[in-house]
This record gives sequence, structure tokens and C-alpha cells, in this order.
Amino acid sequence: MLTKSLRGKDYISLMDYSKEELETILEVAMDLKRKLALGEPHEYLKNKTLGMIFANPSTRTRTSFEAAMTQLGGHAQFHTPEVMQIAHHETWIDTAKVLDRYIDGIMIRMYGIGKYGSAREILNVMAENAEIPIFNALDDKEHPCQIIADIMTMMEKLGPNWKEKKVVMSWAYSDRVKSPGVPQTMALAASILGMNLTLAYPEKYDVDPEYMAFADKAAEKSGAKIEVVHDVYEASKGADVIYAKSWGSFLMNNEEDVEYRKQFKEDWKISKKHFDIANKKAIFMHCLPADRNKEVTDEIIDGPMSVVYDEAENRLHTEKAILALSMK
Ligand code: CP
Repeated sequence: MLTKSLRGKDYISLMDYSKEELETILEVAMDLKRKLALGEPHEYLKNKTLGMIFANPSTRTRTSFEAAMTQLGGHAQFHTPEVMQIAHHETWIDTAKVLDRYIDGIMIRMYGIGKYGSAREILNVMAENAEIPIFNALDDKEHPCQIIADIMTMMEKLGPNWKEKKVVMSWAYSDRVKSPGVPQTMALAASILGMNLTLAYPEKYDVDPEYMAFADKAAEKSGAKIEVVHDVYEASKGADVIYAKSWGSFLMNNEEDVEYRKQFKEDWKISKKHFDIANKKAIFMHCLPADRNKEVTDEIIDGPMSVVYDEAENRLHTEKAILALSMK
């Protein structure tokens, strides 16, 4: 059932989204993907403008959002804080109030600007001071644009019983300490939609407890199965999806974390050893960019089980759905 409740709605946290709203985005994304393949016009956002503020690097998010606005008949502007008056200490409140007068939506990517949650505070300030919708393109807590594309990919690859399939979101080795946004958002989506999710990570890599508490409560309503295990081989047994993602510990500083994680370098690099014990048709997922031969071996990411480029493509279709539903 499609819901109209997304008109004008911010897309900052999946905690604010219902099962019906997520299903609406997914259904519209499938329809827009079909329309694009058939060359059917779908200019739902003619003459609308999206402002994109990137405080951090991006390949997929920038390109897919910009292409999304073009295909929907609108326009996307690329901004960085360094070339906005933010660089001269103009407030985010004034920035939001002014942009609100010119454009129809604002997409923001911002993380790593101080303590955990600082970027989210700025996204919330923007949302409070602009009537137009704000889209979270990865902050320090969530990556909701990535996860909705991941869910679309699972629906396509796993078939009608996709919610029952065993999805393993596995911590993976990297030299770089990264945001927990992907596993945290996956826990939200899985619990809201009623999926079967195993979060696998070594001791000391627990995600934000606020996210697990939300997921446990939402799972009671949806019937989702959310498990946590600390052994990557136990998690891989019978998996239908192995999704590799590195993230940092809340219990250690950067230097301590980089040192501590070295012991997990081999076991937590997703490889044939993990796929040998997964289900025969198991797929490999990664949000990209991947740390090749650290998070995952070339053999797996380039192998027949890998769906990473289909997953990246679905960023475009799901973002088009989110933009069209909220900015119309
Ligand atoms: N997955 C993702 O968000 O990719 P980019 O960092 O390239 O945008």
C-alpha cells in the first residue's frame, strides 16, 4: 500500500520511518527503475532544485543524486562548506533559512566533525530551520540512502521470501576507522521491515546502544529476527547474504582501535572460507568504496557471488523515489 505521508518529510533517520513508508519508497523505486529501462518519461520534479552539501568525499552519492535530479526533470547544485559562507562562520540556522527561500530540498553529507552525534545535530538544525526536506547522505549515525538501496538489491536478488533469508552484516578489517552508520541503519531497516539480520563483529565493536534498543523494540512489532554474534564463521554458516563493512569502536580512540583490530586482519577479511560455509547461492554485498584484500578478497568482490555494482546502481533508483515522493 502506497502512503502519501512522505510529502515534505525529512529523510534523516529511519527511526522516523514506518514500514509502510519504507515499502512505498521501495515500490516507487522499482517502478522508476522500470520506467528508466523502458525510456518512459518520469519528470516528477520539473523545475525543482536540490542543494547538495558535501563536507566529505563521495563518488556514488554525489553522482547518483545529481543524475537522479536530471532524470526527474530538475537540477542539483553541488556545494561544499569551504565555498559557502559557513567558512566565514555564518550559522547553519541562517544557511537553512536562506536556502529554504531558493530551493526545494537539501541533501547533506557530513561526518567526522567532532564527537559522535555532532554532524547529526547540524542536520537536525537544518531540518528545524527549513520547511523543505533535508536528506541525510551519510552522517555520523546513519546512511539511510545506502540502506534503502541495499534492501532493494536484496529484494531483487533473494526473491519473494527475502525477509526470511539470513542477512549477515559483518564487521570487516580495514586500516581506517570508519563510521558505524551502515550497520546502525541496517539494524533499523531490518527491524522495521521484519527481516532476519545477524550483526557479526569482534568484541568491543558494539554499535550505538540506542540503535539496538530501537531495533529490539521494532522487531517485537514486525517479527524481525535480530541477532548479534562475535564469531564471523558462526555468522557465515548458512548465510544468504554476507555484507562486509568496517566500522570503529566506541570504546577506543583512533590509535588504540587501529592497534587492537590488527588481530582480526585475516579472520574478518571476507573470503572463500566464509562463502564455503554460507548457502550455495549466497551473495556478497558492500556499500563501496571497498578496502580490497582487507575487508574482502578480490576473489569474492569480483566473483559471481558479488552484487556490488547492482547495489551501487540501486542508489540511483531509490534516491529518485525518495526525492520524488518528498519534493513533489
Ligand atoms: N556508498 C557511498 O556512500 O559511496 P560514496 O562515499 O562514494 O558516496
